[in-house]
Order: sequence, then structure tokens, then C-alpha cells
Amino acid sequence: MSSFPDIRPRRLRRTPALRRLVEETRIAPSELVLPLFVKEGLTEPRAISSMPGIVQHSRESLRKAAHEAVSAGVGGLMLYGVPTDDHKDETGSAGLDPDGILNVGIRDLVAEVGDATVIMSDLCLDEFTSHGHCGVLAPDGSVDNDATLAIYADLGVAQAAAGAHMVGTSGMMDGQVGVVRRGLDKAGYQDTSILAYSAKYAGAFYGPFREAVQSSLQGDRRQYQQDPPNLREALVEVDLDVAEGADIVMVKPALPYLDVIAAVRDRVNVPVAAYQVSGEYAMVEAAAANGWIDRDRAIFESLTSIKRAGAQIILTYWATEVAQKLRF
Ligand code: PBG
Repeated sequence: MSSFPDIRPRRLRRTPALRRLVEETRIAPSELVLPLFVKEGLTEPRAISSMPGIVQHSRESLRKAAHEAVSAGVGGLMLYGVPTDDHKDETGSAGLDPDGILNVGIRDLVAEVGDATVIMSDLCLDEFTSHGHCGVLAPDGSVDNDATLAIYADLGVAQAAAGAHMVGTSGMMDGQVGVVRRGLDKAGYQDTSILAYSAKYAGAFYGPFREAVQSSLQGDRRQYQQDPPNLREALVEVDLDVAEGADIVMVKPALPYLDVIAAVRDRVNVPVAAYQVSGEYAMVEAAAANGWIDRDRAIFESLTSIKRAGAQIILTYWATEVAQKLRF
């Protein structure tokens, strides 16, 4: 005797054990990368109001946070340096200075955790320029692509010399991956790898980050970051980055661009990363603080969705917390 319906997908959802057995997507601590901010001259960590729970680190608290992340099994650290205002200039020269805050911070991370995780650094000029753009300006005020490339090559070498295992090219200049790759190779850093921010969109979700790095930017980055409506253009960017030597390609932001993550995953055979950015973090924290959503479930659901779309590496400000919850 059969009774309709014969096929009942609900059978596998009946108990937690059944659901666990058939779970298709699972996150591991080693796939999570923690972005960290180190601010020049701080003696105590300083809160970032639009990112509750995230701070600008002092050199000392940076080492502690790195240690904690590594103990939780986090797969990598992505470091941003925030110089004091008097160390910002038109060309972002503090990025090249071995004693500039980012290069100092990289050396601190190497000293603290060494090869126990992957130490990554932001390869861009925006934190260091007085105008806040990701490159140097041409006389007409536009961002000069090719003049910026020459500086990026030197930035890569400075960060590799400080001990970064991987540099994150995030400036969206044409040719940046190729020029950084050649610069690294010429200086003897053939083994330093490149995480390419290949499809980085000029969206609204970076707002809290601008506070985190005390950005000097007036205006926006639409002349160099991608336009949110475009998907195929992301594939052009990804193809170029792979051809120029990217070891890993990334889509950013993550949750509003799941279709882009999936398309990139289909397209290439290098690892695909996604960046759950500051605005994605802030939205969940703000809604949870109001009691409007279940914070922990929203965090796990968003990360699982990003992985399900095809990202095998996820940069997230929740990396340590999530890794701890996965482990214990
Ligand atoms: C640029 C950079 C930005 C972010 C990472 N690298 C800012 C921007 O493009 O304006 C944003 C990350 C985030 O919002 O969490 N160096």
C-alpha cells in the first residue's frame, strides 16, 4: 500500500542527527582568515564604533589577537596598517618604509606566530595616502594607474622582506598582479604568494572599514573598483589575474555577490576566496544588538552560504570566534 507522496525529502530533516548526516556544506577553522588592524602609536587597543567587537590594535594587542586566532586554528591573518596622520602623504610612502606601521606589524606577527598560520598583508596605498585613494594621483586628480603600479611592486617587496607569506593586491589597478609578481621574483621572493582581490566592487559595504583605517578618502573609488551590476566583467578581471600569476583569486564583498563567487568558482582552478566585509559584519551586529535576529545563527548562515556559493577561503571579522565555536 503506497500513499502519496512516495518521495518525502522531510525524512532526512527529522532529527539533528539526520540533518548532520546529510549536511552538504561545512566550515572548518582553517578556511577562515582574520583581518586585523594595527594602528601606529597606540598603547591600548581602540574600539571601532561601527564594528562592535573589533578594534584598532596596538602592537602588543595585535600579537595577542594573532596568538588567540592561531590557537583557535584560524587559517590566516590579513593585516592592515593605520599610520598616524603625519605619516600620510601624496604617494603613500609610509607603506614602503621598513619602519612604517604595516611592515612593523608584519614583523611582529612573524615573531609571534611564524609559520603556524598564513600571514597576509594588504598591498594597497589607501591607508597611507593623504587623499585616501588606492593609488597616486595624476595632475587632473584621477588615479594614475601606471604610476601606481611601480609603487605596488616596491610595496610587495617591502612586505615580503618584512616576512609576509602572502600579499593581498587590493587596489584594483590594471596589471597589479603581474607587476607585483615580477617585482617579487626579481627581488628573490619567488615563494611569496599573491591573493588577488580580483573582483572587488565599488559598493556601499565598506563604510565601517573606512572608520577602521581612519580613511582620508573624499568621494569614491568608482573609477577603479568594479561596478556592482557587472558579472561578466568580474570574469575578465579574474582571467587577467590568473594569467598574471595570482595564486588565489577573491570576490569582495561576499554575501551580496554570491552569484559572482559561483561564476568565478566555475571559471578557474586556483583557490577562490571571498571577503565578508565590514558592512556585512556591521549589519548583523547591529540587528542582533537590537534583538532583531539571532546573532550566532546569522553568522553561521552567512558563512555557510558564502562557502556553498563556492568560496573555499573566507575573510571574516568573526574568524576567531567562529573557529573557537567549531572546535569546542
Ligand atoms: C583597500 C581595502 C578596503 C577594504 C579592504 N581593502 C577598502 C576599500 O576598498 O575602500 C574593505 C574591507 C572591509 O570593508 O571590510 N585597501
